[in-house]
Amino acid sequence: MSRLKICITGGAGFIGSHVVRLFVNKYPQYDIVNLDKLTYAGNLMNLHDLEDLPNYTFIKGDIVDEVFVNELFQEQKFDAIIHLAAESHVDRSISNPLEFIKTNILGTVNLLNAAKNEWKDNMEGKTFYHISTDEVYGSLGDTGFFTEDTAYDPRSPYSSSKASSDHLVRAYHHTYKLPVVVSNCSNNYGSFQFPEKLIPLAINNIKHFRPIPVYGKGENIRDWLYVEDHASAIDLIFHQGKKGETYNIGGENEWKNIDLIHRLCKVMDELLQRAEGTSAKLITFVQDRAGHDARYAIDCSKLKNELGWKPSLQFEEGLKKTVQWYLSQEEWLSAVTSGDYLNYYESQYTKR
Ligand code: NAD
Ligand code: DAU
Repeated sequence: MSRLKICITGGAGFIGSHVVRLFVNKYPQYDIVNLDKLTYAGNLMNLHDLEDLPNYTFIKGDIVDEVFVNELFQEQKFDAIIHLAAESHVDRSISNPLEFIKTNILGTVNLLNAAKNEWKDNMEGKTFYHISTDEVYGSLGDTGFFTEDTAYDPRSPYSSSKASSDHLVRAYHHTYKLPVVVSNCSNNYGSFQFPEKLIPLAINNIKHFRPIPVYGKGENIRDWLYVEDHASAIDLIFHQGKKGETYNIGGENEWKNIDLIHRLCKVMDELLQRAEGTSAKLITFVQDRAGHDARYAIDCSKLKNELGWKPSLQFEEGLKKTVQWYLSQEEWLSAVTSGDYLNYYESQYTKR
């Protein structure tokens, strides 16, 4: 296999850290450069085990800074980009849309321009892989699935900014022949997820006997995928996906929020050796998210049939592993839930 120099953006975040770890360990012949701004969501503790490996480099930088991105690309001569850096939390996009427009749209355009300029004389063997979300497709009713042909219908500032970046990536393929590939994935769960998202937030609250905030009636449905299975899909699509194509990635694992929380409470009671029903008493229904999408469900048959991907874990096993990880990571959890997190938590939840 040839030597490649790959820039992974957002590698210090939740999914990015799993992708970096997979590529650094599985492909010692590749040079992996992790480009990350280290926002509140990025944390080098997530990659502590890779720090001294010869095929791993970290560069702190902001993809919104056009001059910095251009200079970096001129200097580093990347063969490929796997682009995960983003503002990723829907609730934060509702209170501060502009940050999402800057990072998710302008940041992506800066990377596209830099790649286009660097690769313009020879695009052979180059790859710009854009990681996106199922939320660009909008909200489903009780039936049906998102396929790669579902029309875009984003409904939050977050999903609109991701949809916009997806369109731009495809436009650079059609207009400039940039060798792009896009994947749109459903909700991820697993280790290193920042505890603003439902599962780690609930784990942290249950651990401390704090209320578990469930938006509305808890009837919204999400399709959950173990993060390492997303990383394995990214590996497969990076190496075997067709340029110009889109691949949907999903867990075929739909849960109503309230059912998922009850399931999580049961696992927490078992692992913390609390009496059955202790954690469920913490469930608290709070004001719904504005514009809350009802249901997401992915049809990932293209990825399974064309590239042979399949998820490795059942949800019960993945959820238990995830809870065990959070319970064993006292230092990580208290580091990320101190300081700014407390201000965020207060402004997000005390008004509900
Ligand atoms: P995350 O919020 O955990 O991590 C985002 C990372 O991007 C952080 O390390 C952050 O420091 C970095 N970053 C943010 N702004 C930056 C900037 N301007 N310049 C450089 N780095 C910057 O996000 P995540 O949940 O790991 O999601 C990663 C990607 O996957 C995103 O593009 C997201 O839209 C997509 N995605 C996420 C999910 C999910 O369930 N979490 C599902 C499908 C797709
Ligand atoms: O579908 C993929 C998307 O999944 C990704 O693109 C996003 O980056 C990721 O954040 C996630 O978005 P969601 O909004 O679905 O995830 P979140 O964990 O914020 O919420 C999951 C569900 O739980 C959603 O219906 C809202 C609800 N919820 C969330 C929080 C944080 C609650 O009921 N209470 C909460 O406190």
